[in-house]
Amino acid sequence: MQPFYVTTPIYYVNDKPHIGHAYSTVAADVWSRYARVRGRPTYFLTGLDEHGLKIERRATELGMAPQAFVDQMAEPFESAWRQARCEHDDFIRTTEPRHKERAQRLWRRLEDAGDIYLGHYEDWYCVGCESFKTEKELLPGNLCPQHKRPVERIQEESYFFRLSRFTEPLLAFYEANPRFVQPVARFNEVKAFVREGLRDLSVSRTSFRWGVPVPGNDAHVMYVWLDALTNYISALGGPAPAGEAPLYDRFWGDDAEIVHIVGKDILRFHAVYWPAFLLSARLRVPTRVWAHGWLTVNGEKMSKGLGNFLPPGPLIEAFGADVLRYYFMREVAFGQDGDFSHQNLLSRYHGELGNGLGNLLNRLVSSIVAKHLGGVVPRIDLDALLPLDRALIDEAQRAAAAAAGHIEDGAFHRALDAIWELVGAANRYVDTTAPWKLAKAGETTRLQQVSYVVLESLRWLSLTLWPILPDKCDALRAQLGVGPVRCAPDEDLWPSTFGALSAGTKVAPGAPLFPRFTPEQEAELLARLVPTDDRKPPPAAPPSKPAAPAATAAATPAAPAAPIAPAIAFDDFAKVDLRVGHVRTAEKVPKSAKLFRLMIDLGEGAPRQVLAGLAAHYAAADLVGKRVVVVANLAPRTMMGLESRGMVLAATDAAGALRVVEAGDTLPPGARLS
Ligand code: MSP
Repeated sequence: MQPFYVTTPIYYVNDKPHIGHAYSTVAADVWSRYARVRGRPTYFLTGLDEHGLKIERRATELGMAPQAFVDQMAEPFESAWRQARCEHDDFIRTTEPRHKERAQRLWRRLEDAGDIYLGHYEDWYCVGCESFKTEKELLPGNLCPQHKRPVERIQEESYFFRLSRFTEPLLAFYEANPRFVQPVARFNEVKAFVREGLRDLSVSRTSFRWGVPVPGNDAHVMYVWLDALTNYISALGGPAPAGEAPLYDRFWGDDAEIVHIVGKDILRFHAVYWPAFLLSARLRVPTRVWAHGWLTVNGEKMSKGLGNFLPPGPLIEAFGADVLRYYFMREVAFGQDGDFSHQNLLSRYHGELGNGLGNLLNRLVSSIVAKHLGGVVPRIDLDALLPLDRALIDEAQRAAAAAAGHIEDGAFHRALDAIWELVGAANRYVDTTAPWKLAKAGETTRLQQVSYVVLESLRWLSLTLWPILPDKCDALRAQLGVGPVRCAPDEDLWPSTFGALSAGTKVAPGAPLFPRFTPEQEAELLARLVPTDDRKPPPAAPPSKPAAPAATAAATPAAPAAPIAPAIAFDDFAKVDLRVGHVRTAEKVPKSAKLFRLMIDLGEGAPRQVLAGLAAHYAAADLVGKRVVVVANLAPRTMMGLESRGMVLAATDAAGALRVVEAGDTLPPGARLS
């Protein structure tokens, strides 16, 4: 059977897992479970993207070494996926030696192909995206269109990848592989982007160290996306010559089906850069890149500012993993944007799952088979069934075939539509045939026929739904008296022959699969789970740290302000170069009670060192991340053996404490005050 390899993006560890991440991971798990049910050799990879400026800065903000920081973030991701019942085969972290070594191998292959050269870079960079931006892409005020935050000017020596060479080869590849990117509309966007002509890509950085060293030139680290994309092969042991890495040979081999599941925001990296790297390295290109949409939460974009990043854990604790998995796959057409709404989840829970599937099982197993058929699956003559029965069997066959086709196409919502046609048809069949009346009337043969047809339909449902609802399906099967789904290589468990449920099997009526919540319980759940407005900071929240600088100090002056200094000419003022500076790191100067050594980003490529007499007024960690005002052209001065290149502006507040003057978040490092 054709090997199947499915991957999720590797997640940045600067934040904890949220339902957007869970959505990708569940989709990949569903796809991988489906392939396993079909008996295909399957490999499912997820992991973490642990390098890059964004992670390094986050660690610095927290006063931690980057490695210690990423180490502590791995556990929350792994346990979130365990809790969501995602059974990945490997969990790769880009700081692992096995990854770094292979990322360097890929680099050498690009270099051997003549596609790497050393140059000089100057452009805009968004740290949120970890990506360069063209002027054309930026919003007014030099804001990143995605993060709505100022981009930074980067100028440095850099290695480049000759991406421009790949415009034509990529277009030819797309032409030959018309289903390479799904959905099609997104593929069209990718093609349009490539048709405009590709620019060479800067693939190394010198201004920070948190990355994979460039082989042969330790002054550079590899661009975080080149490093990260390599995870898809490094986890398999590649790139490697045939015979060296069996997993790589099997799952990156020419006959494997390789599917990358990604969010729409990172499609370009996967559909343009990654295939170009692979073509250059003479490695195969994945079969498909599936770009899903973005989830909002109760109609709102998830964002740090709104405080509505929804972690999957509490939802899973309240409803169970399967319900969340079902909701993800059912609610949102895979490929489109969608909304996660708690209210909607509850209504699908009670409606489709409880009244639809749970009730069907309950009606049959607890009420009919246990009470009227001695608790065992009856023996029937399939040839003697009536057209009404055959119609339900046909429906089961249609649903299973359609669901398989849709899952293979990544259309999970359609697969569920097809399967719920069967749930609906089976419930209507029970209503029409009224087995309780047959029992009352003593029509045993007909009761046995009807019951068997429904029980077997339920068994089909337990297999077709297993990739999405693994635990509930196994619980359903336990009530039917059949064992849990056990996938085995080369064994196709997808239902195809109606009638495989053995007569005489003892059913085991149990608790409802989807117990109802009372209105009070529902209200309690919603109150607990929905991020409410008062938990979000108001849009223009005052700073949460003790700071409260200029504005507060001005509002409550301790004493009359000092007299204003004599007037100066504008030209004199213009000589002072005041800049917005982003404090990257802060540490006490040894043996000094007053001085901090700050590294401040003034948009110059590399941060500069400034000494500030603030140690009696701030903890070092409170300064990190602040946007301050720096006198950038003050002549350098040496204090305690350290050179200070500039001065941070501060003023004394009502209580006599020195507070730095803060520039707003929207002003980019290096912006000049005038
Ligand atoms: N580290 C890169 C990926 C490297 S893959 C070689 C990255 N990481 S991320 O953590 O920022 O995002 C990971 C995935 O989460 C992306 O596919 C992104 O689309 C997805 N999502 C983030 N927020 C999301 C929603 N609100 N909804 C759905 N998916 C979302 O990018």
